[in-house]
Amino acid sequence: RSDEEQQLRKLYEQSQNLYHHILVNTQLGQKALKYLHQRGMTDEMIATFGIGYAPEKTDLLTLFFKDKQVAPALLEKSGLLTSTQNNTLIDRFVDRVMFPIRDQGGQTIAFSGRVLSKDPNKPKYLNSPETSLFNKRKILFNFDLAKAEIRKNSGVLLFEGFMDVIAAYQAGVKNGVASMGTSLTDEQLYLLQRVTNHLVICYDGDDPGQKATNRAVDMLMPNRRLDIGVVVLPDAQDPDEFIKSHSPEAFRKLLTDGEQTSVRFKLDYLRRDVNLNNDKFKVDYLNQALQLLQSAATPSEQSLYMQHLATELGIDLAAIKTQFEQLPSRR
Ligand code: CTP
Ligand code: MN
Ligand code: MN
Ligand code: MN
Ligand code: MN
Repeated sequence: RSDEEQQLRKLYEQSQNLYHHILVNTQLGQKALKYLHQRGMTDEMIATFGIGYAPEKTDLLTLFFKDKQVAPALLEKSGLLTSTQNNTLIDRFVDRVMFPIRDQGGQTIAFSGRVLSKDPNKPKYLNSPETSLFNKRKILFNFDLAKAEIRKNSGVLLFEGFMDVIAAYQAGVKNGVASMGTSLTDEQLYLLQRVTNHLVICYDGDDPGQKATNRAVDMLMPNRRLDIGVVVLPDAQDPDEFIKSHSPEAFRKLLTDGEQTSVRFKLDYLRRDVNLNNDKFKVDYLNQALQLLQSAATPSEQSLYMQHLATELGIDLAAIKTQFEQLPSRR
């Protein structure tokens, strides 16, 4: 078993080197390299993250591993190849930019491949299947490199995508990680809590991203040992897009000056589609907001946000406070 793990690790390392070589040194990789450069990624980042390219060939790895005496069963187990209906093994990753997924020790244990074409029938990102090495619930992209920065920076930044982590890194923000295309799991949270108690959610500014932020805040708020911050990106951009359309400096400034409390995020999120000219909606919103303050806010946050609500809604602060005191107590 551990022998098999060793063999799998070697397979992943060799494949990563091959994909990287193809991207940076060969004609086959030109298209992908141009794509990454056009997206603003530097050669330094391509090297740091070991990014590669899986060309438009279905027999690349079979040929590559042929004279390396690797058992076909192991190749199939690795998930790098997949078997067809007539039982031949072909490459799983074809015509994709390859992002190595590393474990905490920095070894590659999986890949995520991004399509180059705009073919809507192909998933934008394709991940390796789970193996004895790769459990996606337990892996955070870039945690190995970010760990020291998270300790030093006293906090971790949680992004949605790999490109966001890399663009932030390139902009000098090196304490970023991303989960594997899913919401944050308990296992990932446990890993993070061993190195920090400050977590900042920095998901995409679009609707799906904000919805995911709301879910993450709901999951994390009851955790009293964690200080949760939220950064909302303007104009429905994701961090990668924001950095490109503004600047690295503007991004770093947004992270330091734009961090909101989780309560503030929830209040803004609750109010998103509420028409405050309608008294019924206004009163409903106030009730929900007060319940949120009761269950999730510190006393000073309660005071601060009741003042905000009074101003925002044009309701007397004393009345709001009386109503807050009269809420049925929970638990
Ligand atoms: N994702 C996925 N499968 C998809 C789409 C997304 O696994 N078909 C995951 C990936 O981990 C991706 C993350 O969800 O990084 C965020 O999705 P999205 O915002 O759509 O992608 P970006 O990270 O912005 O990727 P890009 O900038 O390359 O378009
Ligand atoms: Mn997104
Ligand atoms: Mn904070
Ligand atoms: Mn995105
Ligand atoms: Mn993006």
